[in-house]
Amino acid sequence: MLKGGHCNLSVKKNESKVVDSIDMEDLGDKASFCRCWRSAKFPYCDGTHGKHNTTTGDNVGPLVIKKKEL
Ligand code: FES
Repeated sequence: MLKGGHCNLSVKKNESKVVDSIDMEDLGDKASFCRCWRSAKFPYCDGTHGKHNTTTGDNVGPLVIKKKEL
C-alpha cells in the first residue's frame, strides 16, 4: 500500500471517505467541480487550482458540467 502523498490535505479529514452528493436539479446551467482538492468551496471549484499549478508546476483543473445548448 502506498503511504503518504495524500492529495486531500484539508477536506473533511475527520471522515474515512469524502463523498459528496448533489442533485442534478440543483446544478443550474453550469457547475465546476474541484479536482485539485484545494478549494475552500469543495466540492465546487473556487479557482485555487491556478495557485496550486503555479506553485507546483501541476496542470489540474475543474470538471465543468453544463447543460447542452439546444
Ligand atoms: Fe480545485 Fe479548481 S479549485 S480544481
